[in-house]
Amino acid sequence: MSSTTTLKLQAIPVDKEIENLIRSSKEIAIGLNANDTRHFGPDPDGLKILPESTRKRLVDAGIDISEGYPSRPDKSLIPVYVDEAAAIRDDDYEYVERAKRADPEKKALLGAAKQVIHLTNHIGTEIVGLQLEDLTDQQKDELALLVAERVVVFFRDQKLSPQKQLELGEYWGRVEKHPQASQVNGLPGVSVIWQDYFQKSLGVGLTFKNNNLGNFDATKNAVRGTQVWHTDLVHEKRPAGLTHLHLDAIPEFGGDTLWASGYAAYDKLSEEFKKFLDGKQAVYVSAHGYLDRKNPFSGPKKIERVHPIIRTHPATGWKSLFVNRGMTKRIVGLSSVESDLILNYLFEVFEKNADIQVRFKWTPSKPGYGTSAIWDNRVSQHRSTWDHEGKESRHGTRVTSLAELPYFDPESKSQREALGLPLDEKDFF
Ligand SMILES: [Fe+2]
Repeated sequence: MSSTTTLKLQAIPVDKEIENLIRSSKEIAIGLNANDTRHFGPDPDGLKILPESTRKRLVDAGIDISEGYPSRPDKSLIPVYVDEAAAIRDDDYEYVERAKRADPEKKALLGAAKQVIHLTNHIGTEIVGLQLEDLTDQQKDELALLVAERVVVFFRDQKLSPQKQLELGEYWGRVEKHPQASQVNGLPGVSVIWQDYFQKSLGVGLTFKNNNLGNFDATKNAVRGTQVWHTDLVHEKRPAGLTHLHLDAIPEFGGDTLWASGYAAYDKLSEEFKKFLDGKQAVYVSAHGYLDRKNPFSGPKKIERVHPIIRTHPATGWKSLFVNRGMTKRIVGLSSVESDLILNYLFEVFEKNADIQVRFKWTPSKPGYGTSAIWDNRVSQHRSTWDHEGKESRHGTRVTSLAELPYFDPESKSQREALGLPLDEKDFF
């Protein structure tokens, strides 16, 4: 071996060599979903199944779909290694909580609405007669507070371009730009929620029988789609605050979404159990996997992040239970047996208490129009249903505003404590 060759071999570390191989190979999937056949850049195959109402919304907004839709980040930009993926948005910056500036009575927002409909006692409000694209900054602040209090707020019949949706999200916080998820062409930060497309391009393999299995045990059953109860982007250093899903193609019936309140879930616990959990932390994982640089042949590894289990919401000041079946791995400091037992119980508090949930029926609008749901990820879980079984199109765009570094304030109160509602425990036994 010549000295030149030796030098060349030493110049490329093994991890870089593997990365280069993956990036240059057409056969090896990046993002580690072996069934992923999505194009990098705009996907011509997506156009074949693009719902008419979505097409109208995109074209009305001046989005160029001539080459295909949706679009995936360039292969050279998708992280190969988990440390690279975890380093995205790992920087420090000051988060401004818009809801803290709001008039607590929210007169500018609620006064301008034709109707304000509370869908359940604990969670969910629909606002009628306002267009999101027309909101003033004062109304946006008040909406952020309303969402923080009511957990999820709905607006039907909205004319909302993806650009306007992004602008609204940027007002509420730094918008998450996913390193590998499909997005609206030219608009990183506007993620595409389109199960019909993912079924084909990602090989999700949803069926009537399997689409809910992860809700029984997410660690044993492959999670297919969004039907497992979860909270978005909990692996981020600053996880999601307000998330805005706008559906512009909606089945005539089916495809409902459910949310559950983290404030109310916390208040379902006994005061003794609350004390045990207050101040504890857990490990949260990402939905997507990447390679471990030190052990690249060991298979996909998820990003892991530690956050408090009980969070204090900066605007309401209320405590909320921050765990979810899809992405909470273990409680720090407990044995795996203890952690599994407690986490499973906590997941079930969200999943089995129908009185702290809302189930929303999306309603189709005229072509080019859609319905928006804006929820606070800090204080909720959600899941979709797949009862339409892909027979009718369901397509949406999602913009997520990231929020503060999660914290637990031992002085903060639960929602019921703060509102002076009874915490009567005499009927436990
Ligand atoms: Fe989600």
